[in-house]
Amino acid sequence: MTKYLITSALPYINGIKHLGNLVGSMLPADVYARFLRQKGEEVLFICATDEHGTPAELAAMEKNQDVETFCTEQHEVQKDIYTRFNLSFDHFGRSSSHQNTELTQHFCKKLMENGYIEERVIKQVYSVDDGRFLPDRYIVGTCPHCGYEAARGDQCENCTRVLDPTDLINPRSAVSGSHNLEIRDSKHLFLKLPALESKLSAFIDEHEAEWPLVVTSIARKWLKEGLRERCITRDLKWGVPVPVDGFEGKVFYVWFDAPIEYIGSTAEWAEKDPEHRDWKSWWYDAKDVRYVEFMAKDNIPFHTIMFPATLLASGEPWKKVDYIKGFNWLTFYGGKFSTSQKRGIFTNQALDEFQPDYWRYWLMANAPESSDSSFTFASFAATVNKDLNDVLGNFVNRVLKMTASKIGAAVPAGGEWGDTEREFVKTMEARIADYTKYLSEMEYRKALVELRAIWVEGNNYLTAAAPWTVIKEDKDKAAMILRLALNVIRLYAVLSAPVIPETAEKMLALLNLDANATAWPSGDLAAELQKLPAGHAVNVPEQPLFQKIMPEAVADLCQRYGADPEE
Ligand code: MF3
Ligand code: ZN
Repeated sequence: MTKYLITSALPYINGIKHLGNLVGSMLPADVYARFLRQKGEEVLFICATDEHGTPAELAAMEKNQDVETFCTEQHEVQKDIYTRFNLSFDHFGRSSSHQNTELTQHFCKKLMENGYIEERVIKQVYSVDDGRFLPDRYIVGTCPHCGYEAARGDQCENCTRVLDPTDLINPRSAVSGSHNLEIRDSKHLFLKLPALESKLSAFIDEHEAEWPLVVTSIARKWLKEGLRERCITRDLKWGVPVPVDGFEGKVFYVWFDAPIEYIGSTAEWAEKDPEHRDWKSWWYDAKDVRYVEFMAKDNIPFHTIMFPATLLASGEPWKKVDYIKGFNWLTFYGGKFSTSQKRGIFTNQALDEFQPDYWRYWLMANAPESSDSSFTFASFAATVNKDLNDVLGNFVNRVLKMTASKIGAAVPAGGEWGDTEREFVKTMEARIADYTKYLSEMEYRKALVELRAIWVEGNNYLTAAAPWTVIKEDKDKAAMILRLALNVIRLYAVLSAPVIPETAEKMLALLNLDANATAWPSGDLAAELQKLPAGHAVNVPEQPLFQKIMPEAVADLCQRYGADPEE
């Protein structure tokens, strides 16, 4: 039997992530993991914070913390937010773990043994006053092209020209502002990507037909432009130490050790519980594993070229990705969500405003799959009001209230199904088959259109069957209709659970069912819709599942988040 290994791109540690980060990796991965578990599949869902590199060092410095304390704190902050979003990671690790250190050093040694690593001396800017080498982007100065005074050593933000730090006029350290800079020689390790070109190309060929276009086109572009040797070490203190003589005080480049943390985090998972001791069966010689990765498009080169290169060059049978679900950008009113400029909505703010399922539902319904998509509060409110409130929430409330008031708060017995019921079940069967197919294919927008249509079918059935009228002449028939409708609520809870797990749990609680009673429906829908037996007690909702977001609230949100209320 196939086991499913699922990873989502590792969120960077330097600060709280925004909704764009969530929708492009962790959330769709969670929906997929939940869906597969409900289908009875064996799933391992792994994530972690990506903790190394200069941005982490600088963020720590800004907070006057040492980088380890900063990372430990920020890891907990992010972890707590993801727990509140109900992201069902089996493990949420840290790339600074000893497991990742050991694995990263292991890969380096293997790559050296196999001749895929080369030593080179390069010239680098050294800041005497900071006592450290500076990466290109941490050298600032005046742009020689446009005169912008805060141009970075890699690029001028003002005129967008690509720069070399030596181009800058009056260069200084972005860390301290010091002008006391020198060019010094420094020895580094380079990964010989050109030597892996044919292996990588064959790897992409193998998956070309199956992977989304956004993924293969980016990978192909890299291959076509020709692979170059890549420097995989840095003159920094914070990172995985390079285990090679003469490299004391140097660490690996963050993008070298970060993807290895997918494996590292799995090893961390094993440490929590002796039952997970065979963690390596997920990664090494793992022929029974299907490995699916989730990420936004900026991460694709690292996952289609760099990480596979590391695994291939090791010469060991490490599991390589089988499917990559890549995403375009979610924008905030058409512009960029930006962590540095604090533009958009951050994940902690989102949870302070509304329950997680509002966000989960809107984000998946509007996932930036084939193109970018834009967040607006107006769209968010409309979706919450129409889909969640009017369609799903209304059905649940109506059915439970009517049952309690007309018949009593339990599943009634009632008579046999008629044509209307058989028709309804047939329509639902087809829709559920499509919904299931879209979820298996990770086609989120299509899946959510179908989920909504499934909710609409229930309302349509109820309108057609009109139990409130029928009850006046035929109590038995009305009871039969309500029995079916109560069973539909159970089915809705199960089908909605991958996307809106907290609501699904509330629905199951209203039906006095266990939160884990979410096994995916079998093909025989008629049987699924008779699972709640007559006499089974149900509850009346004390408050509706959802609350509408009124125009005044939208206006207030726009104001507080700097958005244009006209859009
Ligand atoms: N931290 C990176 C980002 O935020 C993603 C790293 S994914 C990894 O874009 F697997 F490579 F770690
Ligand atoms: Zn410029």
